[in-house]
Amino acid sequence: MLKAEYQTRGPVPQDVIEAVPFDKPQLAEGEVLLEMLAAPINPSDVMTLTGIYGILPPLPAVGGNEGVGRVAEHGPNVTGPDIGQTVLLPVGCGTWATHIVAKASDLIPLPNEADPIQLAMVTINPPTASLMLSEFVDLQPGDWVIQNAANSGVGSYLITFANMRGIKTVNVVRRESLVEPLTAAGADVVVVDGDDLADKVKEATGGADIRLGIDAVGGAATDRLAATLAEGATLVNYGALSGEPCHVSPISIIFRDITLRGFWLAKWFNSATPEQQQALYGKITGLVATGKLSAPVHATYQVEDIKEAVAVAAAGGRDGKVVLVGDSTGD
Ligand SMILES: NC(=O)c1ccc[n+]([C@@H]2O[C@H](COP(=O)([O-])OP(=O)(O)OC[C@H]3O[C@@H](n4cnc5c(N)ncnc54)[C@H](OP(=O)(O)O)[C@@H]3O)[C@@H](O)[C@H]2O)c1
Repeated sequence: MLKAEYQTRGPVPQDVIEAVPFDKPQLAEGEVLLEMLAAPINPSDVMTLTGIYGILPPLPAVGGNEGVGRVAEHGPNVTGPDIGQTVLLPVGCGTWATHIVAKASDLIPLPNEADPIQLAMVTINPPTASLMLSEFVDLQPGDWVIQNAANSGVGSYLITFANMRGIKTVNVVRRESLVEPLTAAGADVVVVDGDDLADKVKEATGGADIRLGIDAVGGAATDRLAATLAEGATLVNYGALSGEPCHVSPISIIFRDITLRGFWLAKWFNSATPEQQQALYGKITGLVATGKLSAPVHATYQVEDIKEAVAVAAAGGRDGKVVLVGDSTGD
């Protein structure tokens, strides 16, 4: 059994994490042993290793916030989920491990026949994409939304959710080579970021009013997005991929009345009722299980190769997510 553990934080994320062997744990009352099937490496995980994320777990810690596993063994007095059942791993439990101990009562069963790699990504990015499209601006079919880092996991889910609602998307990326795959995935407009972004967007949309902008980057990219928006529009920042504070020109704020807001899924969890959470996750799980909602995957790695996996996940220019998989995934 292996876990990807870090004792310190530092600027090079792959330097602080390593695969550490551990003995099979003794299960207490109500606990189960889970075999990890799949667990992604998200930007927030990398930022947790480098120490720049908004909340940091005490050290030492095992990496990974989300994923899916399979019940391998029951502890005393456990009646379910059954051995062999695929389950969602509890959020923040340290999912980058071949085996995880969890309370049976914390586990949510998932369809055994669905792709575990896609299921492993349901907890964080799909609800983020869905909520950013619904919580800030009352968008109607035919309305436009613009997002940067559009080839990210969140970006790809957002394109799918927008299509389902008849909302048109402008997708800002850093590479020309992404225009074709994003268009094939349902993007209405794909543009490469740059100082002429507002002009390019105006031309591509025929001067459409865009009332919602979605920014994962920060820095000057925030202002380039602001400049594409209609007067009175809302710009939502939800990521800091550039590592820079959001820059928004007074021209956008004062003269064009652009409002900058923030979104953090953890805050939504604190305010949403259990019924609202179940409704959103039920919808997302159903869409993922039936293949209607997915994110591209760049590469998969086993826990023993955590250093390489984290290095690849932390680098730009990927074709999708980096996902850790268990020994039996794909069986
Ligand atoms: N606030 C929340 O609740 C919440 C929830 C989920 C995710 N997030 C945030 O959402 C963002 C996307 O997450 P994800 O898991 O979807 O990402 P991902 O699939 O791992 O993709 C990373 C994306 O970031 C882009 N990127 C990296 N560095 C960049 C830079 N300096 N400038 C511009 N683009 C850059 C990459 O573009 P290239 O392909 O060109 O390298 C790629 O599009 C992250 O910032 C994450 O922390 C926030």
